[in-house]
Amino acid sequence: MKARTAVIPAAGLGTRFYPITKAVPKELLPIFDVPALQLVMDEAIDAGIDHIVLVSSRAKPGLENYVTPDPAVVSKLRDLGRDDTADRISRIGTDVRVSITYQDNPRGLGHAIGCAQELVGDESFAVLLPDELRGDSSILKLLIDSSDATGSSAIELKRVPMDEVSAYGVVSVAPGASADGPFEITDVVEKPKKEDAPSDLIILGRYVLNAQMFEELANLKPAPNGEFQLTDALLSQSKHTPVLGHLTTTERYDTGTPFGWLTAVIDIALRRNDVGPELRGWLHHRLG
Ligand code: G1P
Repeated sequence: MKARTAVIPAAGLGTRFYPITKAVPKELLPIFDVPALQLVMDEAIDAGIDHIVLVSSRAKPGLENYVTPDPAVVSKLRDLGRDDTADRISRIGTDVRVSITYQDNPRGLGHAIGCAQELVGDESFAVLLPDELRGDSSILKLLIDSSDATGSSAIELKRVPMDEVSAYGVVSVAPGASADGPFEITDVVEKPKKEDAPSDLIILGRYVLNAQMFEELANLKPAPNGEFQLTDALLSQSKHTPVLGHLTTTERYDTGTPFGWLTAVIDIALRRNDVGPELRGWLHHRLG
């Protein structure tokens, strides 16, 4: 069955964005005029997801406020001529149901996903890390179709220069795959030193995991830093069941740091038909 539920882990304190994240969850930082979280939810809905499980923290009530449907906001947006945004936010509560669970003590990505188990139920599910944005929903659709066809977990991969690998989970893959994949994962290391990395293939922030992954998560031992890592659960699953990796197919914006967020806002605004031409003209003038 195709994954219909998406888990969005959003309980982190966003310390890289202090002081603003004392008051505003980093997932709600604006990408020009909509929160990053809206773009992530749009991607999920466009890939066929009809249930979003937001793993939040009680210290971030703004997230719950944002996903609570408010007809007055939709109607005001329409008054302002922002029908596209109104259409998108009015899908919350109609095209997609949003459930919230809380991870008050952040203990790693594996732990966050485990918190969603009851709300996901016994079926495969997507995971979208909200500090990465995508140009469209194609990679998520690909992972959903792959997992549906095989019953396996399917994860997003990218080849990067070796100088970049140590910020990510890095995989080894079985020999014999074509250069474009899909790949069968044989090993996974979380944030290795460059010299210890098994390859130049990193894991990115879109996953479709089968329900069996919850057992792997429940049996996890904490990593040396005390966190329960999703990477360890992927490794453990790959030892007895195939885990498939697919090369990413779309633009990716990393909004996990202030500089990444700033460039994402500029890049995404430049691509928009409404504000793009004006911004391009302004930048040209400003830089010229
Ligand atoms: C997480 C995962 C890592 C993955 C990365 C993708 O790390 O643990 O395996 O490569 O997301 O962005 P984080 O960036 O949350 O530290």
